[in-house]
Order: sequence, then structure tokens, then C-alpha cells
Amino acid sequence: MGKDVIIACDFASAEQTLAFLDRFTDKKPFVKIGMELFYAEGPAIVRELKKRGHKIFLDLKLHDIPNTVKKAMAVLSNLDVDICNLHAGGTVAMMQAALEGLTRADGTRPLLIAVTQLTSTDQQSMTEDLLIREPIDQVVMHYALNAKKAGLDGVVCSPLEAGKVHEVCGKNFLTVTPGVRFADGDVGDQKRVMTPEEAKKIGSDYIVVGRPITAAQDPVAAYERFLREFVG
Ligand code: C5P
Repeated sequence: MGKDVIIACDFASAEQTLAFLDRFTDKKPFVKIGMELFYAEGPAIVRELKKRGHKIFLDLKLHDIPNTVKKAMAVLSNLDVDICNLHAGGTVAMMQAALEGLTRADGTRPLLIAVTQLTSTDQQSMTEDLLIREPIDQVVMHYALNAKKAGLDGVVCSPLEAGKVHEVCGKNFLTVTPGVRFADGDVGDQKRVMTPEEAKKIGSDYIVVGRPITAAQDPVAAYERFLREFVG
């Protein structure tokens, strides 16, 4: 899979999601289904979007004992999504088990990427709440290396970390980056943002974009501008 723009479908229902996606008549965008939509609508929404021809990143961020994650991943793999994810904090053993669960009898599987530290976690909360005393950027790179060691395909990270992740884990290790905004756009609650052109330059493989597309007056035009500026 090459560079692409993934639209975060952060909607509360299938109805809203399908009404939004019906506006895209020419292209079928790569979409991200997160916890809100999945917990509201279940696997049916995944099957429906797959049937309509969308590629799907199922963003459920699994984190449990290895055996449970392995079995859950086998179920998600049957849904034939393109990308799944989990928390690298679940350990290398959990990530290896996830990969086993995800791999189908014929050897194929969705891509599997890891969340390192959430971007909502900062140095202070990591030190005080989690008792992890190393600098946060080192922790992020260590978790990325653990994901690589476990055989995963990449990580979700800030676009600001994507270059370093490629340096540390190799350029084929995928970086999927939210927090992307047009230079003339609203930042919203994202703190550390990059433009699509910067994200492209730094080597992000996929950008995940929500509100700048879903809340735009013309979502199709906004999506096409992201594609032009990121993919070229
Ligand atoms: O609307 P916006 O473009 O900010 O949406 C970004 C999407 O990426 C949301 O679905 C958000 O949950 C997700 N995300 C993020 N930062 C992370 C991980 C995921 O913004 N570190």
C-alpha cells in the first residue's frame, strides 16, 4: 500500500457515516472506524463499508493478556479490514500473539500497527501516573522498536515523530499520523500539528484526518486537497 489519506469517521451512527460517505461519488476514500462507531454499530458497519469498496483502518487499540488479544484479533481478521491496531504497552508477547491471531489460514493478514504512547500522555503524566521515568521521546522510540521486534508493520505516531521512527526502525516501517491540518485551517484541540506537505516531506506513510474533512463545508473538496498536498 502506498501513501494515502485516511478519513477518521468519528460519527456516532451508521446513518451519519453513510450519509457522509455518500457525498464521495468518484473515489472511495480509505476510512478509519474508531471505538465510538464500532461500539455503536458493531461489525455490521465494517461489513457495509467493505461492501461499498472502502479500505478500512479499524482503530480499536487492543490491550489485554496475549491469549485474549490473539483471539480477538482472529475475529477482526475475519472482517477483512486493511489495518488493525493495539497498544505497544501490552508487551512484545502480546504483540506477537496479536499477529498470530490476525494471520489467516492462507498466510494473509491485515496490517498491524501499534500505538506507542498516546499523544494525550505527556512527560508529567507518564512519570507521575505510570512511573515511567525515561524521556517520553525515548519511550516512544523504544515502544516502536518493540513493535518492530514483535513483527508488526508500523506505528501510529505524531507526524513530528515520523522521521525519527523511520530512522530508528527503518523506512519500510509504517508511520500512520494524525494531527494534520492545512496551514490556513483550524487546529481544533490538536496541539502538535503539521501540514500535509510537511507530513509528506518528513515521510509519513498515511495521514489520518478527521474534522478538517468531516466538518468542512465541502468535505469532498477538502479530501481532494489533502490528497493533492500529501500524495501529490
Ligand atoms: O479530527 P482530527 O483530524 O483531529 O481526528 C484525528 C483522528 O485521529 C481522531 O480519530 C483521533 O482519535 C485520532 N488520533 C489522534 N491522535 C492520536 C491517535 C489517534 O488524533 N495520537
